[in-house]
Amino acid sequence: MKATAKAPANIAFIKYWGRKNEILRLPANDSISMNLSEVFTITTVEFSEGYEKDEVEHIGKEMDKKEEKRIIDHLDRIRNLAKIKTFAKVLTKNNFPTGTGIASSASGFAALTVAGVEASGLKLNERQLSILARQGSGSACRSVPDGFVEWKSGSSSNSSYAHTLFPPGWLNIVDILAIVEKKTKKISSSEGHTLTGSSPFYKARISGMKDKLKKIKQALLNKDFKTFGEISEAEAVNMHTVMMTSCPAIYYWTPETMRIILSVAEWREEGLPIYFTIDAGPNVHLITLFEDIDKTIRRLKKIEGIKGIIINKPAEGTKTINTHLF
Ligand code: DP6
Repeated sequence: MKATAKAPANIAFIKYWGRKNEILRLPANDSISMNLSEVFTITTVEFSEGYEKDEVEHIGKEMDKKEEKRIIDHLDRIRNLAKIKTFAKVLTKNNFPTGTGIASSASGFAALTVAGVEASGLKLNERQLSILARQGSGSACRSVPDGFVEWKSGSSSNSSYAHTLFPPGWLNIVDILAIVEKKTKKISSSEGHTLTGSSPFYKARISGMKDKLKKIKQALLNKDFKTFGEISEAEAVNMHTVMMTSCPAIYYWTPETMRIILSVAEWREEGLPIYFTIDAGPNVHLITLFEDIDKTIRRLKKIEGIKGIIINKPAEGTKTINTHLF
């Protein structure tokens, strides 16, 4: 009863920020994302009578009690479905800094779901896995299917899941992740979601969603990179406006973040097709075409304060692998 899964982080172009049901983690709106090829979590889960309690370890990171409980609660969801009571050992590792807005909870809970379900002996389809992953961390449901993904907000637990819109090869784009901060953020996204209602701009954000979702899906279908990029960039700023105007206010951006944002606008004026998006953290995702990677990296390296660069292609979703971590 041991299995290992590899799950990608994902970057949302239309974001999940705010929930209509906190307990079930039903988002206020649909969201759209792409799985990232170079930022992932690998997790091994083993259920065994040999364990007297759940043992949870994150390689290279101290886990606090709250994080440990969140993982054990997820093991309980799996145990309930599989009708088992056996304790488990969970070992997990990320190949990127955790808690900096690189969607560590997305890849983390997607990997835990797929490895845990496989180890428990349950047989679930992709939709059921996505529903289960969502209950651990909302954005994790989008890391389960391949490529470009849509998460339907739904009206119940069973209708809130993600599915593939287009395969990884659909658009010739890359996500160049500019890391400016590796420290864990002060306000987690889980907490941030609960503050959305306090922003005077939240209602306006939600009321514009339907139209925005329709337009970005059409742009993806048409492979219209310009419209796709413009909508994504405006959407990121829209979400951060809600964050910065919540009570208490959440400022994820740093001076480095702002420096990159301003540079992107300049580079576009110079003719480079490039757009940015930002999750709940200071790091910036630069979305550009495959053929413009070198030009982008050259420019990016000149900006002060860049601590790392990761070039991501659109990727597959979560898969089981044969190499276990223990
Ligand atoms: C800004 O999925 O991390 O990255 O459900 O509480 O785990 P929980 O929240 P989480 O929120 C992601 C927020 C975001 C936007 C997005 O990925 O859609």
